Amino acid sequence: MKRMAIVLAAGQGKRMKSKLYKVLHPVCGKPMVGHVLDAALRAGVERSVVVVGHGAEAVQSFLGSRAEYVLQAEQLGTGHAVKQVKSLLGSESGSTIVVCGDTPLVTSETLEGLMKLHESRGAAATVLTAELDNPKGYGRVIRGEDGSVQRIVEQKDCTEQEDAVNEINTGTYCFDNAKLFAALEKVTNQNAQGEYYLTDVVGIFRNDGEVVEAYMSDDIAESIGVNDRLALSQAEAFMRERLAVRHMLNGVTIIDPASTYIGADVTIGSDTVLYPGTILKGMTTIGEACHIGPQADIEDSIIQDGVTIKHSVLSQAEVGSEATVGPFAYLRPGTKLGRNVKIGDFVEVKNATIDEGSKVSHLSYIGDAKVGKNVNVGCGAITVNYDGYNKAVTTIEDDAFVGSNVNLIAPVTVGKGAYVVAGSTVTHSVPDNDLAIARPRQENKPGYAEKIRGRAKAKKQNAKPE
Ligand code: UD1
Ligand code: CA
Repeated sequence: MKRMAIVLAAGQGKRMKSKLYKVLHPVCGKPMVGHVLDAALRAGVERSVVVVGHGAEAVQSFLGSRAEYVLQAEQLGTGHAVKQVKSLLGSESGSTIVVCGDTPLVTSETLEGLMKLHESRGAAATVLTAELDNPKGYGRVIRGEDGSVQRIVEQKDCTEQEDAVNEINTGTYCFDNAKLFAALEKVTNQNAQGEYYLTDVVGIFRNDGEVVEAYMSDDIAESIGVNDRLALSQAEAFMRERLAVRHMLNGVTIIDPASTYIGADVTIGSDTVLYPGTILKGMTTIGEACHIGPQADIEDSIIQDGVTIKHSVLSQAEVGSEATVGPFAYLRPGTKLGRNVKIGDFVEVKNATIDEGSKVSHLSYIGDAKVGKNVNVGCGAITVNYDGYNKAVTTIEDDAFVGSNVNLIAPVTVGKGAYVVAGSTVTHSVPDNDLAIARPRQENKPGYAEKIRGRAKAKKQNAKPE
């Protein structure tokens, strides 16, 4: 049977009180609608359609070509939203899941289970439900005396008796595609909110003698519909825990999951240890047997095996195997470290390649540079890459030694095996194996220290008040 998905993502989300459209609010670093669409795609649907409205362009540009889109120009309710999809899916037959773009914790396993149950029962609709201690705000699932689902009543339309029901509609459903679009023609907006409710199709099906099933999720996280910032933080906490569990079961040690933040798209190899205060964001990949943290903030970076990173910030950086970074290093975009490189404390690297075995141990800035193998950059040595208008490149070739507090005024090359004496300001390239010294020669004045002290002392005495 053909399987399809419809993701509802046209609402503005007024209760978020935000300029950002609701479904684009991130949970563990990834917009909610991205989580939802990924779950649908992983569940194996052949076609997926996202209903967009508010922020249509932003939603579409984020999700890209992974889905088809229809525009719901006016947000007249969830039923109206699904109806817009008729132009795309109206003539299909098969099963169609409908899922809200604001339920980021719904899983592909649950969607698969939902479709399977739905198809095995030959139902017109199967609703994913959950039992909540506090069902406030959600639509209630009203069952008949025989236990079958009769209809769904929105919070605002509930009688006192219905309000007391704990079983809620998670907003995720599986429908018989043809029957769904037929039933939507009968939905009206005669209710407390004056909207066309998708939930009304359940009652319509029952009146027509169709089978409606419920599939109850035992993971209440899946039912969280994020309408405000409170629910957003709850969703974040559930997702964070879920991701941590997944990584731990894959062989990652997380010393303190409560203070470790792992983005939804991050991958981590086994035997890696994450220390407290570690934040891994974006498309970051961490290899095996790494030690990350405490206090590491890593975004969109690739870390190979056996790397140690402490108290550091990395953004769009690549770190070769066995390298060590920090404490207190800052690796900015375009940093590429080879195997066994050492980046020590208070070192900043930007748009620079540093090859195997090189060391930049303390207090350096390496920007717009190409550093070869087994280079030593001394404490406080920097590349001077910017004249206020232009950036220029510094090249330091293999086995070179750059002394402490050296300024390399780019563009400049330090040749292979060359030696730059501490304190030099290098403005011309240094040929291979040469020694560069570019600082004033030292002069010692014998006994002068005593003379200066005497003068200073006398001055102080003369200045004393009477
Ligand atoms: C909806 C359900 C409710 C359920 C809850 C679960 C209805 C009528 N109610 O309520 O039973 O318990 O979800 O979270 O369906 N949307 C559109 N176009 C619209 C209106 C909404 O695309 O015209 C989208 C929104 O962007 C959102 C989703 O549909 O992603 C749900 O809409 P929302 O307004 O959040 O519905 P709830 O009031 O939460
Ligand atoms: Ca909602």
